Amino acid sequence: MKQWGLTSWRGKEALQQPVYPNAEHLAQVESSLEKMPPLVFAGEARQLKNALAQVANGHSFLLQGGDCAESFAEFHANNIRDTFKVMLQMAVVLTYAGKCPIVKVGRMAGQFAKPRSAGSETINGVELPSYRGDIINGIEFTEQARLSDPERLVQVYNQSASTMNLLRAFAQGGLADLHQVHKWNLDFLNSSPAGGRFQSVADKIDDALQFMEACGVGAGLGQLKETEFYTSHEALLLPYEQALTRQDSFTGDWYDCSAHMLWIGDRTRQLDGAHVEFLRGVKNPIGVKAGPSMDPEDLVRLCDVLNPENEAGRLNVIVRMGADKVEEGMPALIRAIQREGKQVVWSCDPMHGNTIKASTGYKTRRVNDVLKEVQQFFQVHNAEGSYAGGVHFEMTGQNVTECVGGSFEVTEADLADRYHTHCDPRLNADQSLELAFMISETLKKARS
Ligand code: PEP
Ligand code: CO
Repeated sequence: MKQWGLTSWRGKEALQQPVYPNAEHLAQVESSLEKMPPLVFAGEARQLKNALAQVANGHSFLLQGGDCAESFAEFHANNIRDTFKVMLQMAVVLTYAGKCPIVKVGRMAGQFAKPRSAGSETINGVELPSYRGDIINGIEFTEQARLSDPERLVQVYNQSASTMNLLRAFAQGGLADLHQVHKWNLDFLNSSPAGGRFQSVADKIDDALQFMEACGVGAGLGQLKETEFYTSHEALLLPYEQALTRQDSFTGDWYDCSAHMLWIGDRTRQLDGAHVEFLRGVKNPIGVKAGPSMDPEDLVRLCDVLNPENEAGRLNVIVRMGADKVEEGMPALIRAIQREGKQVVWSCDPMHGNTIKASTGYKTRRVNDVLKEVQQFFQVHNAEGSYAGGVHFEMTGQNVTECVGGSFEVTEADLADRYHTHCDPRLNADQSLELAFMISETLKKARS
């Protein structure tokens, strides 16, 4: 294998990249981003890798979630806070049942670039380039908006920096304090079964904390007062990722400092492609999506290339088959990995294989399909003797109507009410919490 370099990906085919009308403008933006401070520190990425090694070994569980696509329009402190709160709620439900640590990773502070199945979109006979996420072009269906604009990379950097800043403040400044567990429930959840169930878990936690404190333990424990929260996104737009990659002064290794964890999408995971080339050289924990077309031998080769030292915690295989394809497609992947003794974290993305079009034209997903895919994921791992290590959701703390089903019974007719996503339909807070309870039952069973 040829030597890796910061720009070696440029000699390979890079799929899903925009065409910039002015290459010089892009180059100027890249060089200004190269001078910006990194968004994360290499030491934090190593810490996440260690936490994920515990997942690979079956001692922890990974919860990854957030927007399909962050956007400039939805950028608001309340949105960040509410997604963060729902993830804390889900994590507490899972910890309580599974009695194991939950590694929390947001699809946040950098999740802006979207792969598209078609390069262009036609409406009423007018054809324009597809929307590729706010880091590339605008969602409005006008010629101007759909032009790729390099200035958007700077705006993404700035938005990610302030999102990151707020997430760090929430994680360490008191919001994540377990003594505040009751306050994580969002108002509109008070009337839902999942919200009610959460309050009873919160009561039990309160009781346990008070008991510990009465015994003289607990009050001073840092772990109760703050949490670790990591960021991640699909490393799709390679000029942006390259511009934020830094050599760590402690180890001399390269880290992509745009997020703690990066993943390669299902459409850009070619072994000889630019995305695999770029990510093989940075030391962050990385993910690779595995859809129904993933060949087991290719997965093994991806492990060889992306994780040549077979380190636990380096590679997360994010399986996204679709509810009716997991039983058929996943055993061969697991067996190939087991046969070769590869270390991976297995996680389940029950979103991207279950997208359908509602009769009203909206892209949606059925909560039942999402539930079913997660259940099958656990069953297959159980049958194959491997560890189902985590879940990967598109979700938000907002009370949106994007996925159908759940206890509030969002119907296809309701989708128009609060459909705000810039790309794929997300689970709302209630649907997310409901799912966490379902998974918690499975974790509880696995523990006994
Ligand atoms: C995504 O995670 O938003 C995505 C596009 O996923 P996939 O690559 O699995 O289709
Ligand atoms: Co998506």
